[in-house]
Amino acid sequence: MNYRGPEMATLSSGLIQKLKTFVDTSYDTLLLTTSGTGGLEAAVVNSMSPGDRVVAVDAGVFGKRFSLVAGAYGASVRVIDVPWGRSLEPDALQNALREEPDCRAVLLTHNETSTATMHPLEQLCRVVREETDACLLVDAVSSLGAMPLPMESLGIDVVITGSQKAWGVPPGMAMLFVSERFWTFQAKASTPKFFFDLARYRDAQAKGSFPFTPALPIVFALDVALDFMLRETPAGVFARHERVAQSARDGLEALGLTLFGDRRHPSATVTAFRVPEGIDEAALVARLRERHDTVIARGQESLRGAILRIGHLGWVQQDEVDRAVRSIGDALSALGFSSE
Ligand SMILES: Cc1ncc(COP(=O)(O)O)c(C=O)c1O
Repeated sequence: MNYRGPEMATLSSGLIQKLKTFVDTSYDTLLLTTSGTGGLEAAVVNSMSPGDRVVAVDAGVFGKRFSLVAGAYGASVRVIDVPWGRSLEPDALQNALREEPDCRAVLLTHNETSTATMHPLEQLCRVVREETDACLLVDAVSSLGAMPLPMESLGIDVVITGSQKAWGVPPGMAMLFVSERFWTFQAKASTPKFFFDLARYRDAQAKGSFPFTPALPIVFALDVALDFMLRETPAGVFARHERVAQSARDGLEALGLTLFGDRRHPSATVTAFRVPEGIDEAALVARLRERHDTVIARGQESLRGAILRIGHLGWVQQDEVDRAVRSIGDALSALGFSSE
């Protein structure tokens, strides 16, 4: 397909409409050829200038990464430190915002994938909107598409997601949803940018095009994935994620394992458990991969060796989670684990 031709205009405008229908938003929807981190970077460089005060949350790898991106572009970042595995308390956010009256942007993570913990986004956004007019950026890379996120009523200015997560297609595309208000921040943000200048995406998309060569295979894949997701309905997709997440938690606990993460806000897309004492987690991961055809994720950074994670998002079905839990039980027994 000529990606500058009329077929592309039809494909991309249809795809954008499907995305907007699925996430139930009228926000401008921008498609970038990049990973989730590129999406975070695009959000940052378009909403702030060097030296701007920014509030961010380090509650895991991805909240920390968001703050590092802002810092890399010269923002003066106030980081709220939350013990990894806990959710951000709305009071802690309120206190930080009161101490940062000139705050230009607030960076939140919806689902902290590294700790299998959600943050109470509704309450947090309410605090932000009560305390400040700052641009509100939400990393929803591992949540959007798997759970509701009423971005308009929550007053969010930028929501970022990634193709390889709940959308169930290959990696390589970030999708950004931006409020009308966002464009006033964008016009004033003096951070240098070129490829990630979102005004270029807005203007090109208005003509059914892309500013730069798009990852066409992912555009096709996402278009098909959205047909499936819309057929299942958003409510159906969200309920399926809730169901499989609950059964992952129940199944792991029934094996005698201890879940990791904030039990008040467990993730619908990833479940983490502590590596039992005496178990070699690298051996467990290898055994699962080699003998059970099951891939689970190790802990990241300071959680390396301490936890393991099961991702259950996108096209995940109940029997896959059941099989993964059974395999973990079998592999643990073979390695000498007993819950008694
Ligand atoms: C919450 C969250 N943010 C950002 C990212 C980074 O996305 P990517 O690895 O596609 O750059 C991830 C990836 O797992 C994530 O889970």
